[in-house]
Amino acid sequence: MSVNQVSASQMSVSRAPGETRLRIRAAGEEDLPHIVRLDAEAFPSDPYPYFVLRQLLASFPDFVFVVADGEDLVGYVLSTPPNAAHSWILSLGITPGLRGQGLGRQLMTRILSRLRAESVHSVSLSVEPGNDTAVALYRSLGFLPDPGGPRPDYFGPGAHRLLMTLSL
Ligand SMILES: CC(C)(COP(=O)(O)OP(=O)(O)OC[C@H]1O[C@@H](n2cnc3c(N)ncnc32)[C@H](O)[C@@H]1OP(=O)(O)O)[C@@H](O)C(=O)NCCC(=O)NCCS
Repeated sequence: MSVNQVSASQMSVSRAPGETRLRIRAAGEEDLPHIVRLDAEAFPSDPYPYFVLRQLLASFPDFVFVVADGEDLVGYVLSTPPNAAHSWILSLGITPGLRGQGLGRQLMTRILSRLRAESVHSVSLSVEPGNDTAVALYRSLGFLPDPGGPRPDYFGPGAHRLLMTLSL
């Protein structure tokens, strides 16, 4: 499988002739059940509850993008809209069978382009300190970790998180 960036708003992944093509598009309310499933696949021990994802999708509809495989979804990213020119990436996940093929990077590129269009100056996110794949992806996009290192108990007892920020 090869990944080709077609434009800032659309990305396709070529497969054998006749197979479906993946594309990145804005999410809609009808995508909620898929996003709930993707979130549980990405964060099996601590997924967002259904009601939280519904409210995020309802509150920030212009800041949720998905990778669509026909009717199915295989990845998603969501951020907050800017507040004082600053946004947070709240979630990023690719279905396990399609990881390592450039889709996570494409989704991040898409949401960052959306945020740039909103004149966002900086973007933050939190990541589990041992999540080497995600940390490597964010570093390669220019995110810098908090100089103080991971924040202990950031998401509650034992749930340490590294905060990373990108200046746009
Ligand atoms: C993190 C995640 C979104 C990355 O998506 P992906 O589609 O697998 O990543 P990509 O193929 O776009 O790779 C992007 C970069 O990630 C890093 N990466 C990808 N796979 C990796 C691996 N197996 N080991 C180390 N780094 C890896 C590399 O830096 C890679 O850049 P490169 O292609 O230039 O080498 C995906 O692994 C995932 O859904 N993980 C579970 C949920 C999660 O951890 N989300 C982030 C929480 S903050």
